[in-house]
Amino acid sequence: MEKQQTCKLDSSSNAPAELDYQSGFGNHFSSEAIPGALPQGQNNPLVCPFGLYAEQISGTSFTAPRKFNQRSWLYRIKPSVTHEPFKTRVPTHKKLVSEFNQNTSSANPTQLRWKPEEIPDSPTDFIDGLYTICGAGSSFLRHGFAIHMYAANKSMENCAFCNADGDFLIVPQNGRLWITTECGRLHVSPGEIVVLPQGFRFSVDLPDGPSRGYVAEVFGTHFQLPDLGPIGANGLAASRDFLVPTAWFEDGIHPGYTVVQKFGGELFTARQDFSPFNVVAWHGNYAPYKYDLNKFCPFNSVLIDHGDPSVNTVLTAPTEKPGVALLDFVIFPPRWLVAEHTFRPPYYHRNCMSEFMGLIYGKYEAKADGFLPGGASLHSCMTPHGPDTNTFETTVGRGTDAGPFKITDTMAFMFESSLIPRVCPWALESPHMDHNYYQCWIGLKSHFSYEGSDCCSGEMQS
Ligand SMILES: [Fe+2]
Repeated sequence: MEKQQTCKLDSSSNAPAELDYQSGFGNHFSSEAIPGALPQGQNNPLVCPFGLYAEQISGTSFTAPRKFNQRSWLYRIKPSVTHEPFKTRVPTHKKLVSEFNQNTSSANPTQLRWKPEEIPDSPTDFIDGLYTICGAGSSFLRHGFAIHMYAANKSMENCAFCNADGDFLIVPQNGRLWITTECGRLHVSPGEIVVLPQGFRFSVDLPDGPSRGYVAEVFGTHFQLPDLGPIGANGLAASRDFLVPTAWFEDGIHPGYTVVQKFGGELFTARQDFSPFNVVAWHGNYAPYKYDLNKFCPFNSVLIDHGDPSVNTVLTAPTEKPGVALLDFVIFPPRWLVAEHTFRPPYYHRNCMSEFMGLIYGKYEAKADGFLPGGASLHSCMTPHGPDTNTFETTVGRGTDAGPFKITDTMAFMFESSLIPRVCPWALESPHMDHNYYQCWIGLKSHFSYEGSDCCSGEMQS
């Protein structure tokens, strides 16, 4: 299915505008900011309409099977190759990692939890405010992931960011993001997510100033919608609710414009004299997109027991093993709890997958205290976790007559990976680390009661 729209021209990427979007997940989109700018019948004619340059961006290898193949054709005023050589960005960014090994990060099986990061006082844009928490694998070897957070307070100025390492899935928690990309512009609010695929140049404006959020980065694959299995053809995140920008461009001279390229976790800069957001028309299936989490259609247990969290998967980045994710993005949205004679919060759990959690707003059902919006937790492979003492006692205390109950005004999420993350030193040394996290379970007491007479070992209570 293809859908074509044009957008309103606007003289500045900073100016507020009511944006038009194209809808659908993985569609082959077409968009032109000037009617007639998109070549018809071929991708790279000898002379493109309006004297534009044709340029392809490949998100998969040329020979990837058709159902996985992702690429787009961009028709731009000047090609993106028109820049000075890349140089190491100075000062260097010391908190970005894409190679997780003993030199960059540590193994740590402890349950970890962080209080929310403070917004910096000094001027900090999205690039400088981004820092890696943990991850696994290697961007160079095209297998792995990184989890970052950001805390920033100013818009990027006269520069664009380009991540050559992987796809960013950004979860804003505080403050809107107005993102300009080569495919057009996206306005993203807390409660929405945005995916910026590998290689696209983008710039982040912060219309609200102080901003904070989470970022999952995947190397060597892309996010896709999960299969629905017995759920059927509908439910969870609907394809039509994913929104893709319409073509938008800016022309003219921009002296000293800088492209900041993340390559192997290091930042490089290249100067050019024009904006990279000079794409007048484009078509293809490789593009940034956003999604409103409040449009998610959750499924849940309707009689007994607490289902596995995978039922709330919004997007999944697969590995080559069926059903095993490089990284799942899972949410815990408002929903009814109705299961009878059931412990309704999440069960106690040890998992071969590793779970990083964040909270966008509200409270998370398994933690009565201490897990705050903007905070985070990490429960790595086979590390036990589950509801805190207050949640357990309160839930059991309600008895079996608890009626239907609606969890409201909350949005927690999880990045879950089959790879085991190593943790960056600044995350372990952070003043926001909650060193008392373990205390939330220490109070769990034995409720064991047994009055049999044939106990063969240990002490028996009467
Ligand atoms: Fe879990």
